[in-house]
Amino acid sequence: MDQTRASDDLTVIAEEVKVCPLCELSRTRTHAVPGEGNPDARVMLIGEGPGWHEDQQGKPFVGASGKFLSELLAKAGLTREDVFITNVVKCRPPSNRDPLPDEIQACSQYLERQIAAIDPDVIVTLGRFSMSKYFPGERISRIHGQAKRIGKRLVVPMYHPAAALHQSSLRGAIEEDFAALPKVLADQERHRQAASERDDPPAQQSLF
Ligand code: URA
Ligand code: SF4
Repeated sequence: MDQTRASDDLTVIAEEVKVCPLCELSRTRTHAVPGEGNPDARVMLIGEGPGWHEDQQGKPFVGASGKFLSELLAKAGLTREDVFITNVVKCRPPSNRDPLPDEIQACSQYLERQIAAIDPDVIVTLGRFSMSKYFPGERISRIHGQAKRIGKRLVVPMYHPAAALHQSSLRGAIEEDFAALPKVLADQERHRQAASERDDPPAQQSLF
């Protein structure tokens, strides 16, 4: 999708999210957190839901786990400006409880529309709620870091930064998984080139 169009679509979605009444979380939020980043991102990250700091500021991953996420992105040679970051639910669950299935369901239309607007090559799921969208019934300890082709994209499940920050065994794992992202992106690039050459073979004039 062209970049202006993606940016316009994301703005429309964000405006809807900010006043969304579709689930109970609308009653207790301070600010909805639509997500932010590059409309033309090749990598999109999907977390769980806003915490206290995010609810205060209306921005994703701005607390301690957000700082850690920025460090993790740096391990992949990426900045926040390169990627788009959002969550499965856009409003904070009270006391940071888990989002409920009907809340995730009510909010999924926004996430789907964001994915369609950005059309990323790679989706990174952070934690089990966004993982379940693509890998239902799977265990993060078994599949973290393993890219799976789903349609035209690669989806890579990773631990949640908030969990990994405080558990040293997970911390090493999430750092390695982020460090491997450039390879995932390169694989995706090769896949895309091979697909486009199949559809549109190199010009015949190279024979002459
Ligand atoms: N944790 C999340 O899952 N999302 C945020 O935006 C912040 C913390
Ligand atoms: Fe709407 Fe999603 Fe917020 Fe629920 S969590 S009120 S569905 S934006």
